[in-house]
Amino acid sequence: MQIQAQRLRLPSTRLDGVCGIIAITRNPAAAGEQPLAGLLIDCLERLEYRGYDSAGIALLVGGMESDGADDATIWRIRAAVSTQSLQEIKKRVQSAPRPPRSDSAGIGHTRWATHGRPSEQNAHPHLDCTGNIAVVHNGIVENWRELAEELTASGHELASETDSEVIAHLIEDELRMDTGTQLHNNYMTTLEATRRALRRITGSFAIAVLDTRSNSSLVVARRLSPLVVGMGGGMCMAASDLPALLGLSGSYYVLEDGEIAEITPESIKAQDLDGQARTLHPIHVSWDIEAAQKSGYDDFMGKELHEQPTAVMDTLLGRFISDGKLALDETRITDDELREVDKVFIVGCGSSFHSGLVVKHALEHWTRIPTEIDISSEFRYRDPILSSSSLVIGVSQSGETMDTLQAIHLARRLNAKVLAVSNVVDSSITRQSDGVLYTRAGPEIGVAATKTFSTQIVTLQMLALYLAQLRGILYHDETSLIMDQLRDLPRLMQDALDRDEAVRAVAEDIAGQRDLFYIGRNTGYPVALEGALKMKEIAYLRAEAYPAGELKHGPIALIEPGTVVLAVATKGRLQKKMHTNISEVKSRGAKVIAVANDGDTGTAALADHVLYVPETVSLLAPVVDVIPLQLLAYHVARLRGCDVDRPRNLAKTVTVE
Ligand code: F6R
Repeated sequence: MQIQAQRLRLPSTRLDGVCGIIAITRNPAAAGEQPLAGLLIDCLERLEYRGYDSAGIALLVGGMESDGADDATIWRIRAAVSTQSLQEIKKRVQSAPRPPRSDSAGIGHTRWATHGRPSEQNAHPHLDCTGNIAVVHNGIVENWRELAEELTASGHELASETDSEVIAHLIEDELRMDTGTQLHNNYMTTLEATRRALRRITGSFAIAVLDTRSNSSLVVARRLSPLVVGMGGGMCMAASDLPALLGLSGSYYVLEDGEIAEITPESIKAQDLDGQARTLHPIHVSWDIEAAQKSGYDDFMGKELHEQPTAVMDTLLGRFISDGKLALDETRITDDELREVDKVFIVGCGSSFHSGLVVKHALEHWTRIPTEIDISSEFRYRDPILSSSSLVIGVSQSGETMDTLQAIHLARRLNAKVLAVSNVVDSSITRQSDGVLYTRAGPEIGVAATKTFSTQIVTLQMLALYLAQLRGILYHDETSLIMDQLRDLPRLMQDALDRDEAVRAVAEDIAGQRDLFYIGRNTGYPVALEGALKMKEIAYLRAEAYPAGELKHGPIALIEPGTVVLAVATKGRLQKKMHTNISEVKSRGAKVIAVANDGDTGTAALADHVLYVPETVSLLAPVVDVIPLQLLAYHVARLRGCDVDRPRNLAKTVTVE
């Protein structure tokens, strides 16, 4: 299936957007019976499977139907009633006093909040000050704070808390600069104003722009976030994800990174962001809707596993702002309070607990603050010693896990500062904490955590860096250096994912086993724990993880000829000791599969199979090292005929104690 994704030439590290975008321009004569609002909603419904928290559409009304383009206005409907938002919009369209008659152009959006809580005010499309420009956006505007300040200073009024809204105002700004204060002019096209606006943005975007001046043409553009264009039947459509377009277009094109295009029902005029003309090449699409929803993977877990580099990249974007401050998403904790922290507790369940175990090493090393990691359901019953100088970090992908919520309630009762790390904006944990850092992994549909695990780790690492900087233990240039290493992780993760075939071959060799042992030391131990958890939950194999040095204190009695041992043996302070531990199990007949760095002949000489990964500094290595273990569990599960997306007895969110 991945081969088909390549044929589509979708960007390899980004197969799906966090938010859903649709843009349609159509020839009214060819429009048929269905009003454009209904068609936009239908297309967005095809993206519903991914989950969203709010939605909106904007249509060009008047203009072409009446007596000239200057009469055109934008008709916008937005709703924030979670996954009922599209139904709500449908109702409002039907009961609107004057249903939009325009059948020429419209844009729509389903939002998965990253900046600003889910609300109607934060839902897309966003308008500029004049109400003549509407924008939908998928991605992250990294420098939005600076841009928002700049725009506000020059008189713009921003109506939402989102990063996306600045794009509409930047386009307006470009048009204003061109003509003084007059917007409706013939001097600059929407394409040109958008191109100039986008050059002021750092970060990722896929956007669609509706401008009342442009008759039925729309402007679409992308950098890092995907955008697919479809044409046929008197329509041209653009969408963040292929399922929105399937069956509606005759030919499909992918906008390349850094391209912008003006689309009309009959034409696509593309440029790069420097204004050089570009030609879009058609792509072959053989997927049905179900395959397209999974980006051609057979299941969501496969897709999400492969989305990890992008998810990590998104999570890192724009977090350390210009003066070296960490941009917390919401905070009622001051820097002075953070400076006073004398003990950190990280609480979480399952993979979220493991991400805490990974980051303990970096946190203590960088900040010198004693750090304890607790399973949420244990923490709340163990009478922890907390005070106002304790920082309790609740880690929860869903933000709704009852045990973790109860753990942070206890922390608050005991006067500690509480910070949430979550993937779901406005989830319970974020509302009940003093500060929030969001992982920006996008919706995770597979029950087993993959991209949310890796993004939790980098989020916690950034927090650790910030604490170290605040306490004067690391200087700003040192944190910048580590941030650069963090920013290199998506590349290394992609490299690790590209070795999928080699992992699959090992999976075939071990799929018939009942019991597996995972060993690791230092940051390799939580990687072993996470690898074993994946194997248990999706392949139903008994997989136990041990700190490798602990083997001789008991577990080694279980090793017999043929026992499979997965050893996380990438480079680091304890690698030599890890080699000794591998020799201990080898000499008792174990079959050893090692995770090792490229070119590591020492480990290769000890192991039966090696799953190679690229090397990075050992404190940051877990998000790379875990990839072959995630892939291994995934392939073993599939070879054993298990449903990897819906493993037995498990729920994605555990809201009971
Ligand atoms: C493992 C997994 C679970 C969750 C755990 C916590 O793959 O998905 O172990 O990590 O249930 O869930 P959250 O992070 O939502 O609190």
